[in-house]
Amino acid sequence: MSSSQPNHPVSASPCCTEEEVVELVNRFYALVRQDPELGPIFEQRIDDWDAHLSILVGFWSTLLRGTRRFNGAPMPKHMALPGLNPPLFHRWLALFGQITTELGNPALKSQADAHAKSMAERFWQRYRVQGYDILNPAFPPASSKREKSA
Ligand code: HEM
Repeated sequence: MSSSQPNHPVSASPCCTEEEVVELVNRFYALVRQDPELGPIFEQRIDDWDAHLSILVGFWSTLLRGTRRFNGAPMPKHMALPGLNPPLFHRWLALFGQITTELGNPALKSQADAHAKSMAERFWQRYRVQGYDILNPAFPPASSKREKSA
């Protein structure tokens, strides 16, 4: 297999297969979409679920298999979501942990859960100082916004 193939892992012994990553993402977001708290947040933002799941497979494949396929921007996208709070992050992590347990691969579970917890903590820390309320067009006042020079 050539290293130029997108699914080829960079790490010598990745914790899981690409098929397990696809299963993780599909099963997790199927659960999230049914969740009364988290589901509506996603349904309001995501028109094309196939495209979103494909981005997320690239994200988790990059983290767990070193495939370097993800080039998205999760931080600003989460900073722009209204109403994030610690219980929502805990719920997200609980559902994620449920699926990583069900997949039955302890190495995948330990790595995926650690990445998820660390990212959730980073999102929430940044959100508290720089999140939606600050990005919201009503705050700060329009006069203080940076204007493009003509
Ligand atoms: C309360 C918890 C969370 C909520 C409600 C949430 C919600 C969302 C939503 C609505 C999007 C789509 C944004 C858009 O396309 O405009 C998104 C994208 C994404 N989320 Fe989350 N998320 C949460 C936590 C996390 C965590 C903990 C991670 C990482 C472990 C994560 C990783 C991602 C990634 C990689 C994307 C795609 C970013 C991109 O398109 O560049 N999310 N999330």
